[in-house]
Amino acid sequence: MVIEKNISLKHLNSFGMHVLAKEYTSIESKQVLAKVLNTNSSNLLVLGGGSNMLLTKDVDALVLHINIKGIEVISVFENNVKIRVSAGENWHEFVCWCLQKNYGGVENLSLIPGNVGTAPIQNIGAYGVELKDIFISCEAMNIETQELRTFYKEDCNFGYRNSIFKEELKGKYIITSVILELSRLEHTIKTNYGAIESELKNNGIENPTIQDISKSVISIRNSKLPNPKDIGNSGSFFKNPVISYSQFELLKNQFPKIPYFEISETTVKIPAGWLIETAGFKGKTFKNYGVHNKQALVLVNYGNASGKDIFELSKKIQEAILIVFDIILESEVNIL
Ligand code: EPU
Repeated sequence: MVIEKNISLKHLNSFGMHVLAKEYTSIESKQVLAKVLNTNSSNLLVLGGGSNMLLTKDVDALVLHINIKGIEVISVFENNVKIRVSAGENWHEFVCWCLQKNYGGVENLSLIPGNVGTAPIQNIGAYGVELKDIFISCEAMNIETQELRTFYKEDCNFGYRNSIFKEELKGKYIITSVILELSRLEHTIKTNYGAIESELKNNGIENPTIQDISKSVISIRNSKLPNPKDIGNSGSFFKNPVISYSQFELLKNQFPKIPYFEISETTVKIPAGWLIETAGFKGKTFKNYGVHNKQALVLVNYGNASGKDIFELSKKIQEAILIVFDIILESEVNIL
């Protein structure tokens, strides 16, 4: 194990922020992780794929870059398989591995940036599927004691872009591997998210395979979301807010076209992208950063913007949304 000093994190965060880490080490096994934590259990930054964070300043801490690799089929049933995936595997590469083996359940989650180990923390989701739908358990190391603990689905309190690892257990555990259950013969094809249906129709596909679903999702994502390799970004910067039905009715009088999804009898979710677009921010560019022109929920770094610039822009957007709609937008991205 080598601990390096003053390392740039530019290539390790999808916003492409050039900040320095006081100390950095790449972790390739649970044993090494336990050893490092045994002597350093405070002042840590745990880094996975770096795709859900905005770094606004140098990191005055030891960065633990989780690079534990491995994908293993651990049981095979008539129609299902259980697969253990190590935390440092890239999520989309894992999805591609599943599609090659014809294992179903992750195809709607194609092209989500980030690593497998961070997927449960925010219960990644897209196009009608969330990680929790296929999740069995994960193994995580207690930072203080280095004990390994298994968290089953019911232990994780999964919610919309949320879990116990973002709440009560924040900063207490490091996920080392995840067990998922996928289908292997009869797949459940999920096309209920509108854009997938129209994409399949445009391509003349009537009975889609999981590979067709993945291709459609990739094509939809590529048409809306910038590739972090070309333009720094962190996907959706904000969560879609949930508001009361009564507030929604008032807004609907003022904005008859407001899109919404019913969450319960008394609450609805409003697409933050629509709010931001309606408040006039879509495609706005300030020097070398701005709001993406195809999806207003995505803030972008066109090159050499600072984390502070993006953070200030996010605050400006939050203030405008509060004034125009009386809605509080919460950031989905971790701001450090
Ligand atoms: N919309 C606009 N203007 C915009 C963007 C969106 O009016 O600039 C409206 C449209 O009416 C559209 C609706 O918002 O029909 C929903 O848009 P979209 O289908 O793009 O989904 P979203 O709610 O904006 C969420 C996730 C995405 C995920 C997509 C697809 C959140 C915060 N974001 O976006 O996740 O890919 O659904 O499932 O829940 C991510 O988390 O990084 C991410 C990209």
